[in-house]
Formats: sequence, C-alpha cells, structure tokens
Amino acid sequence: MGAEPNFKGRDIISINDFSRAEIEYILDKTDGLRKLPEEERAQLMRGKVLASLFFEPSTRTRTSFNMAMQKLGGSVEGITGSEGTSLVKGESLADTIRMYNAYGFDVIVIRHPLKGSARLASEATSIPVINGGDGANQHPTQTLLDLYTIRECQGRIDGLKVAMVGDLLYGRTVHSLTQALSMFNGCQLYFVSPSELQMPILYKEDLGEKEVSFSEHRRIEDVVKEVDILYMTRIQKERFTDNPMLYEKLKRVYQLTPEMLDGARDNLRVLHPLPRIKNPSIKPDNEPVSEISSLVDNMPYAYYFRQAENGLYVRQALICLVTGAIK
Ligand code: CP
Repeated sequence: MGAEPNFKGRDIISINDFSRAEIEYILDKTDGLRKLPEEERAQLMRGKVLASLFFEPSTRTRTSFNMAMQKLGGSVEGITGSEGTSLVKGESLADTIRMYNAYGFDVIVIRHPLKGSARLASEATSIPVINGGDGANQHPTQTLLDLYTIRECQGRIDGLKVAMVGDLLYGRTVHSLTQALSMFNGCQLYFVSPSELQMPILYKEDLGEKEVSFSEHRRIEDVVKEVDILYMTRIQKERFTDNPMLYEKLKRVYQLTPEMLDGARDNLRVLHPLPRIKNPSIKPDNEPVSEISSLVDNMPYAYYFRQAENGLYVRQALICLVTGAIK
C-alpha cells in the first residue's frame, strides 16, 4: 500500500495535477468531514483567514467557499471584481497576491477570466492557492464536487456513461470533468454540442491516448436513453465577446424538457454546474434560453441542486486539507 496523500501546502490548480487515488482521498475526506458533529467542524479553521479573490462573477463558488470557511470557524476577507483595488491603477496580479501572503492569510481562492491566472497566482505565494475557475481553462473544485455527486447518486464512477451537453469549447467544467473521468476505468463519454462548440482537440487527443471511449453528437435525444449522467452546461455569453452573433445563433440550442427524458434509464441523473439561464416561464421578460426547463426540477432525474449543495462540503474538505487542519 502507498503512503497516504499529503495535501498540506498544496495548490489546487488543475484536476490533472492529481491522481485518481488523490481524488478519491478528497472525496472520502469530504464524507468523513460531513459526518463530524457541527461543533467539532467549527473548530478546524479557528483563527485562520481565507482570501476570497473573485475577479469574475460567481454565486456558488464564492459563496460556498466563504460559508465553508465560516462554518469551519475561520473568517473570510476578499474582493469581488477589481474595482476598489490597486489593480485598477495597474498593479499586477502577482504583486496583489504577494500582499495576501505578506498580510498573513492562510489560503487563497481565486477566480479570474484569464487562463493560467491561478497558476500564476500560486507561483507568487507560498500559501495554498485554490483555483475557483480560470477563464475557459479549468474549474477543479467544481470537478471534485461533480465527482463526489456522481459517486453519491450512482454508487460508483468506474464504468459510467456520461454525456456532456452544450458549450464544450469554452466550458471549463467539462474540460476538468473530462480529464478526471479519464482517470477512472471504463467510462464512456458522449459529447453533445453544436459544431462550433465542440470539445477542444487537446482533450480528445488525451482521451485517445488513454484509450477512453468517446463519441460526438448534435442532439440530446441521440444519447439520453443510454447514459447514466446527463451533464448540461450553459452557452457562455461572456466567452463570445468577439462574436456576439454566434452567441445569438447558439443560445437556444439545447433546452432539456421532461418529454426529452422519456425512455431514460431509471438511474439517470441530470447534473448542471449552474447557473442555468432563467426560464421564460418564470419571468417572460428574460431571454428564453434556459438549458433545463424548470419542469424538470421535480423529476427524480434532477440532481443539480443537490450537486451545488455538495460543493459546500467538498470545499470544506479542500480548505482543511491544504491548510493541514486535517490529513
Ligand atoms: N458552478 C459555478 O462555478 O457557479 P458560479 O459561477 O455561480 O460560481
């Protein structure tokens, strides 16, 4: 048996920085932490401070990290957007991060629009940096909570058939998830996207090298009866600033409705990293582009809100592991 993984002082930048054994260790630690009495959990980060640096909008990642830290007995100091910081005066991200190091923070969570920004931040400091999403690149903590959720609802990860639907070109969650699933045995991946938003070649080449089975499709209906997990994603308007016409063309491309789930396997679970775009049936003045109809929410297949809830616990485990509060 190999030595137990040691996460103290480690950065969480890309899911590819971790082995399958390390990923499973984090998922098991999440389970363990979840079972701890709340009073015990609330002692784990007492006196410690998390820097929450969000240069891009976020609801789930920012709030769940902040709540995770507070429920562990620690505190949070942070920024949302560069406004009000010296970044607007032209200070570099690296210098900004150095300050968080100097002022005694214990862990940094960063979301930034630039690919590679989390890695750059980690190189500017000796305290652990957790990537909360760097542009269209990676979202490793989302992937860990996705894997935790998949294992929870299916009882395993090996051998599952997983469809990823929507913006596979810019979607950092599907990039990280694809890499993670390739570490497990016998998963079959189904990529459902318009031709303009296909999974980038580098991820497909990686799957080819690892002999992971994958196929590409245009319609949800072509895969929905076969799969165990239907992972829906949003067409990401913010990544189409150079080509807004393309966003207009594609924004309604996938809309999952109850009828489309006819004939699905009983164990199918629909996941979505969220946010989903507002449903027109709720507010008629909003863009009618919801990729999951709210009518799906009450079906047994819907698992996306539970998935988001799981993020709190996975992020608690990550904070505790990288700071050495738990081993
Ligand atoms: N899933 C996710 O990253 O959501 P937020 O953008 O709200 O953080």
